[in-house]
Amino acid sequence: MPALLDPSDPDRSVQWPLPPARPLPTGQRALRLAVMASGNGSNFEALVRACRQGSPKAEVVQLLVNNPGCGAIARAERLAIPWQLVDHRQQPSREALDQQLIASLQPQAVDLVVMAGWMRIVTPVLIAAFPNRLVNIHPSLLPSFRGLNAVGQALAAGVTLTGCTAHLVGEAVDAGPILVQAAVPVLAGDDAISLGQRIQRQEHRILPLAVQLAAERLGLGQAAAGAQG
Ligand code: GAR
Repeated sequence: MPALLDPSDPDRSVQWPLPPARPLPTGQRALRLAVMASGNGSNFEALVRACRQGSPKAEVVQLLVNNPGCGAIARAERLAIPWQLVDHRQQPSREALDQQLIASLQPQAVDLVVMAGWMRIVTPVLIAAFPNRLVNIHPSLLPSFRGLNAVGQALAAGVTLTGCTAHLVGEAVDAGPILVQAAVPVLAGDDAISLGQRIQRQEHRILPLAVQLAAERLGLGQAAAGAQG
């Protein structure tokens, strides 16, 4: 049985499932990914870097942001990823925002859309356009502490273990089939900043793995017989 605790992790965090020991499937074409982000963009950058190292076998082809001047934009420019602003303030409804997102995403023919700190509630409009193709990262062990300020919610509840979850997006907020989780201990003296930083280090590890697992689960990137991968 594999060790549950990753001994290389100085934060004493636990991730499950572990990254596969076996090599990534060969013959799989590179997946095309879009990322949606609202803020700092550290998960976006971690995913781009993981893809550029070949795991997952994927390319981030597009970043969509809803906040002008957010940190994710500066990262996209540094990483040479095309980005586009879809400002929710210019839209009359959540559904209209999602329609704008779909209009930006569909021409890119992406396999998966990754919500990496996307702080808007998505509607059935977006979910129906990308059924089982939306991946979200959330800073708690779902189904605990959904919604805003999940780290603060965990501290207020007094839990001794919290963490992060990457999952396929369902219609309820921060819910849907779980792909990967990492458990992070709450240490004496932790505040939302210190705990949040340790959770984010785990997010950066599990999000690339979640993309790989989603692709395997959905059979994405499999070359059709006789086709060039
Ligand atoms: C991440 O911690 C992510 O889990 C959270 O926003 C942060 C974005 O950080 N998302 C949610 O709370 C969604 N409910 P980043 O911009 O540095 O990637």
